[in-house]
Amino acid sequence: MKYDVKSLEPAAEGKRRIEWAEQDMPVLGLIRERFEKEKPLKGKRMSACLHVTAETANLVRTLKAGGAEIMLVASNPLSTQDDVAASLVRDYEIAVQAIRAEDKDTYYRHIREAIEFRPHLTMDDGADLVSTIHFEYADQASEILGSMEETTTGVIRLRAMAMDGALKIPVIAVNDAKTKNLFDNRYGTGQSTVDGIIRATDILLAGKHVVAAGYGWCGRGFASRCKGMGADVIITEVDPVKAIEAAMDGFRVMPMAEAARVGDLFCTLTGDINVIRREHFEVMKDGALIANSGHFNVEIDIETLKAMAKEHKPGVRRNVDGYVMPDGRTLYLLAEGRLINLAAAEGHPASVMDMSFSTQALMAEWVVQQGRLDIGVHSVPEAIEEWVASLKLQSMGIAIDELTEEQKAYLSSWEIGT
Ligand code: ADE
Repeated sequence: MKYDVKSLEPAAEGKRRIEWAEQDMPVLGLIRERFEKEKPLKGKRMSACLHVTAETANLVRTLKAGGAEIMLVASNPLSTQDDVAASLVRDYEIAVQAIRAEDKDTYYRHIREAIEFRPHLTMDDGADLVSTIHFEYADQASEILGSMEETTTGVIRLRAMAMDGALKIPVIAVNDAKTKNLFDNRYGTGQSTVDGIIRATDILLAGKHVVAAGYGWCGRGFASRCKGMGADVIITEVDPVKAIEAAMDGFRVMPMAEAARVGDLFCTLTGDINVIRREHFEVMKDGALIANSGHFNVEIDIETLKAMAKEHKPGVRRNVDGYVMPDGRTLYLLAEGRLINLAAAEGHPASVMDMSFSTQALMAEWVVQQGRLDIGVHSVPEAIEEWVASLKLQSMGIAIDELTEEQKAYLSSWEIGT
């Protein structure tokens, strides 16, 4: 088995954390039990480019239980949990190639290893694996039955490739499943972003002016958690409908140029580039904290921040770097502008990843059942979403009503009761 992890020494701690997460992933556990018996992925090689966390460990264990041969690599250089990587190799015999804080060359070397593993199926969190296949290994594209994409950022990129006629692989927009984005993006990102910011800075959110850039599901989750903790939350948006929603949800909405003067803490959750840039750094308050929770470290114009600074104060705390502006103000960049929830905390809690990763595991099975899909961006079938949602509800001890025969007839009729 080919692996490249920092050290196998912390494996015992990693195993404890994987087992702790497992307790909060009951739906994935049911899938694993069934996969063990039915082996729906038997004979398939799978390369997964995901954040190497305790939750991901439980996903790849499930895929292995289903008969797949797996290689796991990081989807971000700063999100790998080295103890989990060690345990996956030592205790679960899964080929992991991921080291926290690996440099760019190592990151891409690992991705290339995952491609040279010649997968039949791939999983991506941000589309780096699929992009590298298209750029450097296009001849292998026809061997891939399907690729599951976990993030909004990745799905945007894959749709752009499909629009351009450049896409060569059938992909599944797992991110777009309701069982993923309504929970993972909203409650997962909401809580874990706050967690990352607090672990990095130890600030009190109550009374702070918090600027959230973006009011998609991630932005909503973050904004509502900050509001619940007593912050004054300001939303910046480019989409007029989302901006109205933010205003009617009780937030102040304004352009970043205005918010930049007011905020104590900024967090980008947009999926776009240079959302916070020179004109904003120029007017921010002394001591402003700047974080990103989008997938890539492109949302804050870090190069310009560095170029503007007359002095760099690295590591004023773990995951906090200071940049002293020519006029003496210091702006603090958190976790090098990388996704704060995974770089400074542990990512989304297991309970929410249970739904995302159950959807992923079932989609892997579905892709194999379908044989070769058409090239394009496919949705998660509704039946799979309903199955995941029903079992999650059951695991939470919540029962719901069922439609009566009369109600079903009413909903499918255009004659009754008008
Ligand atoms: N993305 C966000 N949180 C995550 C987690 N805990 N594990 C894997 N991927 C994630």
